[in-house]
Amino acid sequence: MNILGIETSCDESAAAVYNTDKGVLSSELYSQIEIQKEFGGVIPEVASRSHLDKIDAMVKKALEVAKISLQEIDAVAVTTKPGLPGSLLIGLNFAKSLAYSLKIPLIGVNHLDGHAFSSFLENDVPFPHVCLTASGGHTNIYLMEDFGKYQILGTTADDAAGECMDKVAKFMGYPYPGGPVIERLAREEGFVDHYKFPRGKNQQDLRFSFSGLKTAVLYKLAEEKTFDLKTKKFIKPCDIELKRKIASSLLVCVKDIFIKKIKVALELYPQVKSVSFVGGVACNKYLKEQLGNFCKERGIQFFSPTPKFCTDNAAMIAYVGHYKAQHKQFDDLTLDIF
Ligand code: KG4
Ligand code: ZN
Repeated sequence: MNILGIETSCDESAAAVYNTDKGVLSSELYSQIEIQKEFGGVIPEVASRSHLDKIDAMVKKALEVAKISLQEIDAVAVTTKPGLPGSLLIGLNFAKSLAYSLKIPLIGVNHLDGHAFSSFLENDVPFPHVCLTASGGHTNIYLMEDFGKYQILGTTADDAAGECMDKVAKFMGYPYPGGPVIERLAREEGFVDHYKFPRGKNQQDLRFSFSGLKTAVLYKLAEEKTFDLKTKKFIKPCDIELKRKIASSLLVCVKDIFIKKIKVALELYPQVKSVSFVGGVACNKYLKEQLGNFCKERGIQFFSPTPKFCTDNAAMIAYVGHYKAQHKQFDDLTLDIF
């Protein structure tokens, strides 16, 4: 069975083909990062227009790389939630039109299910499984017992982990995405925890909160007389030594928070056989290595996708589509976005 996956929830127009026997045949995407850069964030209207412009070419490219024709596609899986409404609508209507004209089933996919199952694209992951998803918009920890059978153990009460790093990097004068810059600066500082930023009050809790951490960083910058908390502007440029110390302390703090939550989840569910770390933040080699070591010490298998499957992609959407298709979980043309 060949499943075509389509993903347009934010600023990436992506298409992929997943084959039941052979796995990922193609995973293509167009990123709007260069277009959106000048606005300092994602402008929804700009995003929708760009999806409209690129989605046809991406689907054609995905078929070409997979070396199959449209007629060889057995079902179309598409992200329906969560995301920017206008952007989601472009992908959904494109998918509906394809399904209707080719007379093949349509499958709506939750973007977060895509991330949660992204490490299954390249590995045989045993259940029961704990997955930590960390991206620019989400921080979730799941207990997954089987395909389609999972529960969210904890989510963030405010900012996502990636968002926190993006904002701290922005305070220090770097463009989006801030995560890679934070990693580079932290590495230059040798991952030393200079400032011992707060790890959260209730450490037995599986809920996350990153806005307090972001504020703590701001206070530290203010203390160093570089940042004015009232105007949220720099009084003098933030020097590179301070940037390195901030980034290093921040990343070590995020690592400790992640490890603590995984530890709590493993204590609550001792039957768990494997852990995965997914989403854009999982591109971070330091976090990946530290979480991997933690699991290894406990004899728990650890998985984390290669970077192209950590960030938004359509292969993970096609993958969820494939297991939904095997259970005949199809949608009709009244399918809507959320
Ligand atoms: O999954 P993703 O591509 O998009 C969302 O759905 O949000 O994740 C983007 C996030 C951004 O916050 C970015 O800063 C973060 O992933 N990120 C990183 C790294 N590379 C990307 N965070 C930490 N370290 C990295 N190396
Ligand atoms: Zn995502």
